[in-house]
Amino acid sequence: MSGAFEKIYAESLANPAAFWMKAAGQIEWVRRPRAVIDDSSPPITRWFPGGMLNTCYNALDLHVAAGRADQAALIYDSAVTDTVRSFSYRELRDEVARFAGALAELGVERGDVVLLYMPMVPEAVIGMLAVARLGAVHSVVFGGFAANELAQRIQHAAPKVILTASCGIEPGRVLAYKPLLDAAIDQVSNKPQHCVVLQRPQETASLVPGRDHDWTTLAASGAPVGCTPVASTEPLYVLYTSGTTGMPKGVVRDNGGHAVALKWSLEHVYGMQPGEVFWAASDIGWVVGHSYIVYAPLFLGCTSILYEGKPVGTPDAGAFWRVVERHRVDTLFTAPTALRSIKREDSGGEYIARSDLSSLRALFLAGERADPDTVAWAERSLAVPVIDHWWQTETGWPIAANCLGIEALPVKHGSPTRPVPGYDVRVLDDDGNEVPTGETGHITLKLPLPPGCLKTLWQNDAGFASAYLERFPGYYQTSDAGYKDEDDYLFVMARTDDIINVAGHRLSTGAMEEVIAEHPDVAECAVIGVADALKGQLPLGFAVLNAEAQRDEAELVAELVASVRERIGPVAAFKQACVVERLPKTRSGKILRGTMRKIADSEPWRTPPTIDDPAILDEIRAVLERLGYAK
Ligand code: COA
Ligand code: AMP
Repeated sequence: MSGAFEKIYAESLANPAAFWMKAAGQIEWVRRPRAVIDDSSPPITRWFPGGMLNTCYNALDLHVAAGRADQAALIYDSAVTDTVRSFSYRELRDEVARFAGALAELGVERGDVVLLYMPMVPEAVIGMLAVARLGAVHSVVFGGFAANELAQRIQHAAPKVILTASCGIEPGRVLAYKPLLDAAIDQVSNKPQHCVVLQRPQETASLVPGRDHDWTTLAASGAPVGCTPVASTEPLYVLYTSGTTGMPKGVVRDNGGHAVALKWSLEHVYGMQPGEVFWAASDIGWVVGHSYIVYAPLFLGCTSILYEGKPVGTPDAGAFWRVVERHRVDTLFTAPTALRSIKREDSGGEYIARSDLSSLRALFLAGERADPDTVAWAERSLAVPVIDHWWQTETGWPIAANCLGIEALPVKHGSPTRPVPGYDVRVLDDDGNEVPTGETGHITLKLPLPPGCLKTLWQNDAGFASAYLERFPGYYQTSDAGYKDEDDYLFVMARTDDIINVAGHRLSTGAMEEVIAEHPDVAECAVIGVADALKGQLPLGFAVLNAEAQRDEAELVAELVASVRERIGPVAAFKQACVVERLPKTRSGKILRGTMRKIADSEPWRTPPTIDDPAILDEIRAVLERLGYAK
């Protein structure tokens, strides 16, 4: 080890202002910031106050001016439509400038919200960048969410304009988006003034006259516009993420801190250089897609891959390796689940052996705990470093990683390595004291958070403080539990709240419980996440029926499954539930979900001393055994 990592990490914490001012020098400012950090009005930290910039300029125009005009900025590779389309920096800049002009003609101005509900097509990236070009605020909603979830986000974000497409394409089925959007708009009082609809060849959406516009016609009519400078502290986007209730949290990211941190991270965490090819196999509806499909690769002058398809089934387990070979991908980022699905179909690595993966330098994994088996399989099969790294929608970029751009540290399976420069990670006990090395506690980040992390929650500063800052004063609460070992390696073991991680997708069991509780025959319910060999976790529902309800269990479960799919969306992957007589609770009435999960996953568990009636745990265990759990 050269000690480079130790040195840079120490510098970042000893003098954050100097550290981040240097990183800010890599960004093109319209007006340079007068300070690095302004912490004078808690709970909000303002990064680079006084600075003015435009995010889209830093992603596109800067590179066109600096000699990368003909280099590919974005390559769209769709396994589901068998299409490859490449956009040079000049082409992407021109498309974005025209579409921004079209949005401006619809009335979009600096500070307005534009919501996107789009599949993985280049127009989605063009839409996001066009919004940023106007100094407006985008809010992308993942395509796997149903109308009700979409409606909640529309109501809360109050977008002036919504961008959508006629359909998404899932293996074996075309998924019409427009009826979902129309149903969502019907439900809200904050109705958008306009919708812009990309008609895909697979499905034609009907347009509401006066409100809806055809994307292609509108884009063609747009007169290109330049970049609107905004204050560093103005919001770039709102991204809703699952909280512990049915109402998602609107994570707000600013323009300046985001640009500085993301550009720095792609180079120093991921080890990328301008001109290289980066592929984050995620979705623009998730934070990974925002940070590492759209923004960071473009800030650094890389080529970014936009992949529409799955790791398996579109058409086979060789899909990822074909993309790597075809576009000479230098670094790939995906979720452990995607690798597990490939490994399940190609454990011998035959597709891997058949592909030319000589361009591939590293594979990064995040989104859920990376199980050591899968990491070891990938290391063996791909013969490149496989880097587990840990972060959250809220932070926007990695909290802990093996920073290949600084110094490759030894890998320890099960650990995302060390806290990344800028993050002061502390593990605390329930009383807020630091726990000794090796002991599990609440993983927290000592304030201030580095640039690029959430600034607040949309229209809800008080909610931001109460959700993240109040439990441990002076620290940001990640809601993950884990420990540090003697080498300062972090081990992230579990969430401390009711959030579960299904196929790398963050979901709220509370939101599912809200849907189930609305069933007329259900008196009360609980949803827990149970371990699954492929998706990491799967939701499992327990329903206690009203005394008068005489229901066939299978029929009732089918209704619950259908209503969660209908209300939250297929991405919830809610497919199993059962009827129980009673739920185990503490004497104060809190459902013992943690104990139920341990029983289901056959982990060691103890009867909590606060339990109201211990016999209920035996009933639950019997039901879980019947379902094939608690072995
Ligand atoms: N639009 C509409 N529906 C979607 C969707 C989208 N964008 N994404 C997923 N869905 C649907 C799926 O079709 C599936 O429907 P089904 O119940 O009818 O089969 C359901 O939502 C559940 O999806 P998922 O849990 O993703 O399972 P899957 O079987 O479709 O795919 C994997 C499994 C492992 C291939 C896939 O989950 C995957 O690639 N995960 C990686 C996740 C990721 O990139 N996370 C980001 C962090 S890095
Ligand atoms: P999201 O906000 O969707 O990115 O989900 C963030 C959550 O996913 C974290 O709080 C963790 O619970 C989990 N997570 C993400 N990456 C990892 C990782 N590398 N190891 C363990 N858990 C992870």
